[in-house]
Amino acid sequence: MTASLTVADVMHKPAVVVPDIITLAQASVILDAANVGAAAVLDSQGRLIGMVSERDLLRSVGHGVDPAITKVDEVMTKDPVTVSVSDTVEHGLEVFRERRFRHLPVMDGDKVAGILSIRHVVRVAHIEEVQPAGSAPPGLAPRGLEGVAVAETSVGDVRGEEGFFHYRGYNATELARRCSFEQVWHLLSEGELPDDAQLKAFTRLAVEARSIPEQVADLLPKIASLPGYTPLMALRSAVSLAGAALEQQPTLDIPADEVRRECLKMAAIVPVLLMRLHRHHLGLPPVEPDPDLGYAGSYIQMLTGQRPHDREIRALEQYLILTMDHGFNSSTFTARVITSTGSDIGSALTGAIGALAGPLHGGAPSRALAMLDAIGTPDKAEAYLRHEISSGERLMGFGHRVYKTDDPRSTLLREVATELGGAQAEFAVQVERTALRVLNELKPGRRLYTNVEFYAGVVMNSVGIPPDMFTPTFASSRTVGWTAAIAEQAANNRLIRPSALYVGPQPPRALPEGYGAALKSAELAR
Ligand code: ACO
Repeated sequence: MTASLTVADVMHKPAVVVPDIITLAQASVILDAANVGAAAVLDSQGRLIGMVSERDLLRSVGHGVDPAITKVDEVMTKDPVTVSVSDTVEHGLEVFRERRFRHLPVMDGDKVAGILSIRHVVRVAHIEEVQPAGSAPPGLAPRGLEGVAVAETSVGDVRGEEGFFHYRGYNATELARRCSFEQVWHLLSEGELPDDAQLKAFTRLAVEARSIPEQVADLLPKIASLPGYTPLMALRSAVSLAGAALEQQPTLDIPADEVRRECLKMAAIVPVLLMRLHRHHLGLPPVEPDPDLGYAGSYIQMLTGQRPHDREIRALEQYLILTMDHGFNSSTFTARVITSTGSDIGSALTGAIGALAGPLHGGAPSRALAMLDAIGTPDKAEAYLRHEISSGERLMGFGHRVYKTDDPRSTLLREVATELGGAQAEFAVQVERTALRVLNELKPGRRLYTNVEFYAGVVMNSVGIPPDMFTPTFASSRTVGWTAAIAEQAANNRLIRPSALYVGPQPPRALPEGYGAALKSAELAR
């Protein structure tokens, strides 16, 4: 990014400002008319005291406040971080990256001169990074690519500030409340919710697709007995073998229909591979999937060998639907990068599982459950949680990179856990309440809420899934999201090949005197 561009060159001007005493409804009219996402809030003396964004308005309304009577100063971000008209765009990007805002007020002295949106900055970064082939990139995207849109997708999205995520436009939590796994799977893979006939046909195909190639079945006991066995490592290897046994071709060479067929096959066999590996590892015979059970029911049945109760099936099904997809996360991005090379679906899924296996991505459902075990009883919760936070530890199942409000998945999973009932769910609710209070007190302003992992462990434990299979269960449902992303990438492909900013010694470097000669004589001596 060119250092010569200043914030003043790209900001929205004149600044959209609102007085602190107007209502949310009035503020939303002003934002709408100006077609901006946020406005600076001024007090009666015209001093900047806050920022209010569309997301603040949406979130507040979502939390039940009345926009006709609630004042802007009740929901705004107080004492906002600002940038100056003379700051470079690079500096603006740095502030967005570090502070994770989407809009910043731009000051000219003590006056608000404009509003800088992350979109302005990213757009400039993007335009400047599309350089003629071979030239060095003049700028650098944020290290974690936060705020950088790298593809278009119609699979789904996450709106962290609003506590909302969706699949193909449908609220994902509503889908989890009202639909079956197969209905949502169809939505993600075929693009639309199925009617009855489509669902019947799709379910039949999905059940038929559960058969695994014989050569792969024969190799599973060997994988399950490797010394460094972990369920995800084993799944990654088995998926790779399955791709080869099914003779998968590069996605570049096959039509879209075949890509989708292979995607369905892989998503259908992942739970079968997982459960076979798990049982082999325990020295137990595999359990064939029951064709009369749907995805969620057969998942538990293949694990335990028992036919589960309907309420257990439904609880797991809701968890599985909630975790099918979640925006452009690391493993989905990995799957898309591999697909963009034209490679086969097995390779893309193997890479995605590898990405999910990382502790920064695969989450911590078993750790959240372990924390509940470590606390033991409700009377010990407060002291334990205070001690953890004061010693610099993080409470497992709290905080999220994207959600700065309730994680909608945790809200539904709390309901699912409490409906399943039991002492553990009751205890979790008590611990959650204490944890939120203590976090608010000891980490003020950090916006730490319960994340998906806190109740995920409780729900999975209640339906009989052992802790070492929590993250693999997440991988199983996420395969549906991965395959939707793979099919989307393959259907409209362009090789993903970014650049890096070289920061090593100044090239070209001279080789040390006599270096080549030493190599030559070593070769001759061989
Ligand atoms: N407990 C206590 N404090 C926390 C927690 C937590 N769970 N999460 C964040 N904080 C604090 C940090 O200590 C930091 O405080 P400081 O400003 O005093 O230094 C502040 O909040 C901001 O922390 P960041 O590291 O910037 O937050 P980030 O967005 O990078 O972290 C993460 C997100 C990794 C999920 C974090 O909240 C965390 O470690 N949570 C616990 C582990 C967990 O639950 N993981 C599962 C996540 S969901 C998933 O993966 C599907």
